Amino acid sequence: MKEKILDYLNKEHDYISGDQISKHLGISRQGLWKHIQELKDSGYEIVAVPHLGYRLESVPDRLFPFEISRQLNTKFIAKDIHYFEYLDSTMNMAMQLGMKSVPSGSLVLAESQTKGRGRLGRNWFSPKYKGIYLSLILRPAIAPAISPVLTLLAAVSICEAVKKMLNLDVQIKWPNDVFINNKKFTGILTEMNAEIDKINFVVIGIGLNVNNDKKSLIAQSASLKESCGRMVNRIALLQELLRRIENNYFLLENKGAGPIIDKWRSFSLTLGKRVKVYCQNKHIEGCAVDIDNDGSLLIRKDSGLIQKVSSGDVMHCR
Ligand code: BTN
Repeated sequence: MKEKILDYLNKEHDYISGDQISKHLGISRQGLWKHIQELKDSGYEIVAVPHLGYRLESVPDRLFPFEISRQLNTKFIAKDIHYFEYLDSTMNMAMQLGMKSVPSGSLVLAESQTKGRGRLGRNWFSPKYKGIYLSLILRPAIAPAISPVLTLLAAVSICEAVKKMLNLDVQIKWPNDVFINNKKFTGILTEMNAEIDKINFVVIGIGLNVNNDKKSLIAQSASLKESCGRMVNRIALLQELLRRIENNYFLLENKGAGPIIDKWRSFSLTLGKRVKVYCQNKHIEGCAVDIDNDGSLLIRKDSGLIQKVSSGDVMHCR
């Protein structure tokens, strides 16, 4: 009902009488008043003037599920949203929900995380209301060996969403760090519950630095606000990201990994560069020539030999 009230108030942009809203939505004046109070408690600025009615003055900068769902128009992504003011990590919550058979596409969102997890045991700094911290639960009908493509799919979707909403050029450092002006602003972490030949569910965790200013950023990282010089609408950006993820997911289902890998190549910061990849206590050095259809990086070593690397930490040498 709150969505409907907000839609109606938004549509008119001027005072609307309580009587008109109640009639339009088929609720009592008292019921309307209660919903308005709850919206105000959540941070919506709604003024009420006798004889004129209600007017929506401003909406809070919160990722409320009903705001995300409004005009999202996805088929299965984020049809089910679990929203929290704070969590230790959205990954933990999503892994628990995944075991409870929530539907594929279920979304876990937190406004802040006390123990945000990064790759390779690192932390993900998650200050309140600044970024987007999400975990998406997917139940793809693909072999576990192909699952790294889902991480690439998420990275591509982030690039597409940021390009569309903010017209900023962003690039991907293999396998899944998204950069802007040579600084990281997004990290992706994928965890899986699987048997040898069957995925039960995958959780894709995405942390985006959105409205962080310098003091709420760790060294050597960037935020979208710092890059475009203005506050970014987190709801609109998240909605676009979810739509892109769904489109790319259907593309993967219908056409296989090829088109996703092609898109990944077009955003790559790594290909063509001399790299050092640290994996399993050793490093491999050479030129990053391509990525394989399973998402592995192909490195041409100085000996001319092509080595395939499926995971690791990449350093760009020059
Ligand atoms: C990395 O670059 O190391 C990956 C960072 C992933 C961070 C996100 S934030 C939402 C989700 N919850 C977590 O605890 N981690 C991921």
